Amino acid sequence: MRNKVSIIGAGMVGSTAAHWLAIKEIADLVLVDIIPDMPMGKALDLTEAMPIEWLDVKIEGSNTYDAIEGSDVVIVTAGVPRKPGMSREDLVGTNQKIITDVVENIMKYAPDSIIILVTNPLDTMVYLAKKVTGLPRERVFGQAGVLDSARMRAFIAMELNVSVENVHAFVLGGHGDEMVPLPRYSTVAGIPITHLLPKEKIEAIVERTRKGGGEIVNLLKKGSAFYAPGAAVAQMTEAILKDKKQILPCSVYLEGEYGLSDIAFGVPAKLGRGGVEEVIEIELTDEEKEAMKRSEQLLRSTMSHLKL
Ligand code: NAI
Ligand code: 2OP
Repeated sequence: MRNKVSIIGAGMVGSTAAHWLAIKEIADLVLVDIIPDMPMGKALDLTEAMPIEWLDVKIEGSNTYDAIEGSDVVIVTAGVPRKPGMSREDLVGTNQKIITDVVENIMKYAPDSIIILVTNPLDTMVYLAKKVTGLPRERVFGQAGVLDSARMRAFIAMELNVSVENVHAFVLGGHGDEMVPLPRYSTVAGIPITHLLPKEKIEAIVERTRKGGGEIVNLLKKGSAFYAPGAAVAQMTEAILKDKKQILPCSVYLEGEYGLSDIAFGVPAKLGRGGVEEVIEIELTDEEKEAMKRSEQLLRSTMSHLKL
């Protein structure tokens, strides 16, 4: 039986995620959007690319949710992206309405699926989706940390002129400007970057990682990043469908881990066919705990804009 992945929101991130997923040839795909005919157009265009790449993937577009029936994973990218000068927090009101409608439809048409949120403000939308669906946290969580740590990996690789394959990076906390990149746990060929780079270079990488989303927004002028976000959610989906037990940073509803509860926060999680199969706790220094606290405070202030 073939896997089925549906993507709600066929805009920049949604359609780019579909592209990355199609290349992986791990599932048939459905694109859903409210814009008449647009998801059908993107699905057909991608379908016509499949023979060129020798890929057997069925891709369908739809303006209605019946198309998502039987999905193994549903990715949610529906919403409004940031414009220059806007913070992710500015998006709460508009995207709350959209996400509530979207996840209610997912529960109606694909109640057994695993839901991965991408819509911003990410952690707040994960929290909202968890509350609206009542699903266990294993089956409703969000993508942010894979993107943030990929940005950090790219910056480390550029700085040291090494293969990105050698670079691992760790970013915890909320997907906002107070996210918590952890240099101590970020390595090149297993060596912590704290042994390889001077303090000021590391600080610059940490700062650029924190502001990575804004850097792209300012360059694009309209809209926000989509290639790396699409690749990030495709990697999470692959880990789930292949039951890889891969440890990736995800926004997960916490139940006491890291001293936090009733919040969705970026933490290392083991992804497999059951979704988030384990939240991994790592030891933090006092300074790192302080950074987590600041990130939590910013996130709780964003969450306070939710109307629940
Ligand atoms: P976009 O504007 O290109 O696409 C959003 C799509 O959602 C549009 O096609 C729109 O028609 C659709 N949509 C709106 N309401 C809908 C509804 N009720 N049902 C179905 N579709 C609906 O935006 P883009 O660039 O794809 O970004 C999407 C979201 O992802 C934004 O909230 C953005 O901030 C967020 N994002 C999150 C990242 C992360 O790391 N978590 C990274 C990049 C973007
Ligand atoms: C990003 O980090 C806007 O959250 C989006 O690129």
